[in-house]
Amino acid sequence: MRRKLAAGNWKMNGTGAVLAEIEALARTYPQADVDIVICPPATLIHRAGTAARGSAVTIGGQDCHARASGAHTGDISAEMLRDAGASHVITGHSERREDHGERNETVRGKARAAMQAGLAAIVCMGESLTEREAANTLDIIAGQLSGSVPDMATGENLVIAYEPIWAIGTGLVPSPDQIGEVHGFIRARLERRFGAGVGRSVRLLYGGSVKPDNAAAIFAVPNVDGALVGGASLRAADFSPIIAALGEA
Ligand code: PGA
Repeated sequence: MRRKLAAGNWKMNGTGAVLAEIEALARTYPQADVDIVICPPATLIHRAGTAARGSAVTIGGQDCHARASGAHTGDISAEMLRDAGASHVITGHSERREDHGERNETVRGKARAAMQAGLAAIVCMGESLTEREAANTLDIIAGQLSGSVPDMATGENLVIAYEPIWAIGTGLVPSPDQIGEVHGFIRARLERRFGAGVGRSVRLLYGGSVKPDNAAAIFAVPNVDGALVGGASLRAADFSPIIAALGEA
């Protein structure tokens, strides 16, 4: 059985005042039947860990460098994230692929660094609207999967987030069948590459406009083991019902 995972991606949002949202979430979920991760901006990771202490809420980063240390001004290594209290890190989010030109091999190096530092990497992938309309979705996913996921992946150190770019921040959501098709495809590819044991243990998250009112329908789709949530993770009042829906799925 895969343990379900609700992950929140705060992106470039939040200063110290928003830690109250983590405190509220921690009060709601002192324990939980699902894993809960909030990925705040790097500047808040340490304080977020303090705010979540003693609860089911854990903390993650949004990106890391592929190297452990060195002359890389402005970058943050996976070891630094772990030292600050993170247990997870998102790698290869489409906004990083777009804003920073991250290619699959970059993402793979970052995910490998995360795993080597003892973090779980949440590796993101997804097609653009043009790619979906051209019926290229599965080809794109196949390439991102083989290119972005390191060989050392296991069920503990790898989480995959399928995030169609056209669904992120738009309010548009693929149909359950569309989500199920991609998640089933990812599952089959993982089993083929890593064997059934590892392939079946990796958690697959859906991301893109997950909200309290559509979460239950998304979580009912086979091979959806949770969600990577952007906008609706910023407030505990929105994220809590999504976590609850996941617990009931
Ligand atoms: P959204 O973002 O939930 O605001 O659509 C999801 C993501 O980018 O991870």
